[in-house]
Amino acid sequence: MPSLEEELFPSTPGKFKIDRAHNMNRQFNRCFASTSTMFLWALFLIALTASYLSFQSFVDSGSRYFTASWGGIQWEKQIRNSAQIHRSKGMSVLVTGAAGFVGSHVSLALKKRGDGVVGIDNFNNYYDPSLKKARKSLLNNQGIFIVEGDINDARLIAKLFDIVAFTHVMHLAAQAGVRYAMENPHSYVHSNIAGLVTLLEACKLANPQPSVVWASSSSVYGLNEKVPFSESDRTDQPASLYAATKKAGEEITHTYNHIYGLSVTGLRFFTVYGPFGRPDMAYFSFTRNILQGKPITVYRGKNRVDLARDFTYIDDIVKGCVGSLDTSGKSTGSGGKKRGPAPYRIFNLGNTSPVTVPTLVNILERHLKVKAKRNIVDMPGNGDVPFTHANISLAQRELGYKPTTDLETGLKKFVKWYITYYGYNRGKAVH
Ligand SMILES: NC(=O)c1ccc[n+]([C@@H]2O[C@H](COP(=O)([O-])OP(=O)(O)OC[C@H]3O[C@@H](n4cnc5c(N)ncnc54)[C@H](O)[C@@H]3O)[C@@H](O)[C@H]2O)c1
Repeated sequence: MPSLEEELFPSTPGKFKIDRAHNMNRQFNRCFASTSTMFLWALFLIALTASYLSFQSFVDSGSRYFTASWGGIQWEKQIRNSAQIHRSKGMSVLVTGAAGFVGSHVSLALKKRGDGVVGIDNFNNYYDPSLKKARKSLLNNQGIFIVEGDINDARLIAKLFDIVAFTHVMHLAAQAGVRYAMENPHSYVHSNIAGLVTLLEACKLANPQPSVVWASSSSVYGLNEKVPFSESDRTDQPASLYAATKKAGEEITHTYNHIYGLSVTGLRFFTVYGPFGRPDMAYFSFTRNILQGKPITVYRGKNRVDLARDFTYIDDIVKGCVGSLDTSGKSTGSGGKKRGPAPYRIFNLGNTSPVTVPTLVNILERHLKVKAKRNIVDMPGNGDVPFTHANISLAQRELGYKPTTDLETGLKKFVKWYITYYGYNRGKAVH
């Protein structure tokens, strides 16, 4: 007498006699009556439920990521109004990172001369978002609308291109800062790599394609020691993840230029400073600490050599950005197809006169009329480089770029803004 197991799973199926009358019944039994089969079915159901639940949580977290509320007739109307051009041969520009330091200044300059400007910014909290909100209301007062959203939101970006046929994209949204990369490396990949690709995909598909001008960084020169830094110098030795993502951006934009005919201009900014600047930068945090009577940390390089930066005033950077937009040349593709070669350019935008950090502190002390408490320490290996110095002859020739503000004059303007903005009166906050 065969056992039940042998009956259901005969070792030699070919020899198994089929009882036609009970065939269906037996197959049903085969599938469901066996404990082993039931066990497999149970496993299958558990796996199915688990994968459904994890998919749901992925969808939930995805939508949480892009919670910015956008859309609607009123919202579209604000975008159209903001993009209106008020001069002949003017441009309509999508400015990413418009609530940021450089983005807000460039947006205002474009609007002032009659170009249409629409901003986008995710208002992240890398530094105090209230400063970003303050810049936003400044732009609002001039008729510039900033969409609150992330450049990784492909649907949002596509919608913006649906509403406005942007002639240019000024791409300034990024995770900036060299040292923060050791704390939150993924934010650099999110904004500077993934976000860049999402934006370029939208530009590639737009019809007509816009010309793209975007911010790379002097940090791509990394360990390069040849001075001053020229565009043709080595940029394959980054000293920080920030620099690496900017260098990757240069390669990624080159690909989109090569395959899809996008006109691309990359700008390597050198330490930009000025009113409404970034609180994470040394000149800004030094000012705050000096006014609050707190010590400042001044880093020193190898062999006690002072660090030096090619500090560049914001108005000069704005001129370089606007000059780049004006000379960018057209993209040649449409609907994702290249129709001919398009310009690909890279420029240094610096001041071409580096100043040491202790000299920067001296100037701040003079303007603030307060002595700094200096804490001089050796530079840790956190991604900073000992000096930067731009060769700007290419930008001079091609863009008519000519910086006009020295550090003394620029810091005077910054300090004046700082004291007014934060309500300081001779070193004391008045509110
Ligand atoms: N300021 C400098 O000295 C300097 C030097 C070299 C390069 N850069 C580059 O210039 C550009 C502008 O710098 P900044 O000093 O104005 O910095 P910023 O941080 O003030 O401005 C960047 C803005 O982009 C926004 N943003 C970041 N990720 C985003 C995302 N995924 N989606 C939408 N918005 C996002 C931020 O909220 C911020 O308002 C950046 O690309 C930066 O890397 C700046």
